[in-house]
Amino acid sequence: MTTAREVAFDVISAVRSTDAYANLLLPREIERAGLSSADAGLATELTYGTLRRIGTYDAIIAAAAGRAADAIDPPVLDALRLGAHQLLATRVPPHAAVNETVELVRQAAGRRATGFANAVMRRVSECDEAEWLAQIEADARSDDEKLAVRYAHPVWVIRALRRALAAEGRAEELTALLDADNAPPAVTMTALPGIADIPEGMTPTTQSPIGFRLAGGDPEPLIRSSQGALRVQDEGSQLAALALSRATPVRAGERWLDLCAAPGGKTAVLAAEAHLHGASLEANELSPARARLVRTSVAAVPGDVPVSEEDGRTRAGRGVYDRILVDAPCTGLGALRRRPEARWRKTPGDVPELTSLQAELLAAAVQALSPGGIVAYVTCSPHLAETTGVVAEVERQFPGRLEQLDARAVISDVSLTPVDLPAPADGSGRAQLWPHRHGTDAMSITLLRRVADQT
Ligand SMILES: C[S@@+](CC[C@H](N)C(=O)[O-])C[C@H]1O[C@@H](n2cnc3c(N)ncnc32)[C@H](O)[C@@H]1O
Repeated sequence: MTTAREVAFDVISAVRSTDAYANLLLPREIERAGLSSADAGLATELTYGTLRRIGTYDAIIAAAAGRAADAIDPPVLDALRLGAHQLLATRVPPHAAVNETVELVRQAAGRRATGFANAVMRRVSECDEAEWLAQIEADARSDDEKLAVRYAHPVWVIRALRRALAAEGRAEELTALLDADNAPPAVTMTALPGIADIPEGMTPTTQSPIGFRLAGGDPEPLIRSSQGALRVQDEGSQLAALALSRATPVRAGERWLDLCAAPGGKTAVLAAEAHLHGASLEANELSPARARLVRTSVAAVPGDVPVSEEDGRTRAGRGVYDRILVDAPCTGLGALRRRPEARWRKTPGDVPELTSLQAELLAAAVQALSPGGIVAYVTCSPHLAETTGVVAEVERQFPGRLEQLDARAVISDVSLTPVDLPAPADGSGRAQLWPHRHGTDAMSITLLRRVADQT
């Protein structure tokens, strides 16, 4: 029988060795092991908690082992990370954490490594997390390195997040944001507008008019019984889709396009909105496997949503559209709560390649707009290069042909309660949502309107 700890170890190892995604692999492994719901909860906590804090645990393990973490045999390091998490951040009794870690090391790396693992685990167990952090921070070379260890974020991510907050005069919120990135997000759900109502007894979200929270438990039965009209979706994603569909009143017959659509959460909201107002929606996704997810996602909405499988840079120009969503591939620095390993996997070197793709996708969308048409440029990243940088680049390419709408005002109108969206220093209309302030992923939303042709 596979235990919760073994499931967590297998997932942590696969994330390291095969670049697996924990949020996709873990549910499969839990099912395969036939874990009870209590053990599934434990496996999830152990996996996510360990992966989120890898940078911190590696620093502690290195200090306890007297050698750099990357000089430790990788399967042994996986077990030590999981062991450190149990010792420093859970109520697992220390002797159990040490013994189980040594046993995992024996299974994964053989008897030879068990003495080392035992010694390191015993050293780690001699101090609590606060004492370890104080020791490691004392050796840090900069304040950002101290933050990196304490809040388990790479230094470059901390700097990018600080710059993004500072752009709206809120740099002092940095540690609240880093804390929020380390807390599991509450499950929010959407009732697709015009297709399902928020079920009785559920708590409506305060910002999105189509969102609600489960009292607790598994959302699956609700999703199944509503045939997908009720679904899990971050409140920020709901607001991003509604910012486009409700930016201006919809005229019947409008043509809409979702250019980078998979897995299709926002596509479904747009499809429902289009259906309500007599508009039509097309969707596109580069990856054929992911395009299938989009088709499944829109199945709950009456009417046809054709889904093409093309590069958005060429696909956009095959039509003329009144509204286009460019929810661009990005670093995902705004969704660190959901993808525990993501912060350690991305590098600053990923940013330039992504920003040129983002600018090309946005420029292609702009060219496909009808006069007066609107494009929503959305990233699940607050990194300024991916947000204001890309928009400024595309505005430069279309001088005098684009105007920014006030996305903050649009979101405030869409929302049921006032949304705290400070104006960025660059004077743009961009809206930036944040986990610590809005309880959403850190979505950036810019609305650009093609200026109607002068006659
Ligand atoms: C941020 S995700 C979109 C999320 C989606 N809008 C939702 O709410 O479910 C970006 C998507 O763009 C796709 N993509 C990447 N490069 C693309 C390209 N050149 N053209 C079109 N889609 C692309 C990715 O495969 C990914 O599915």
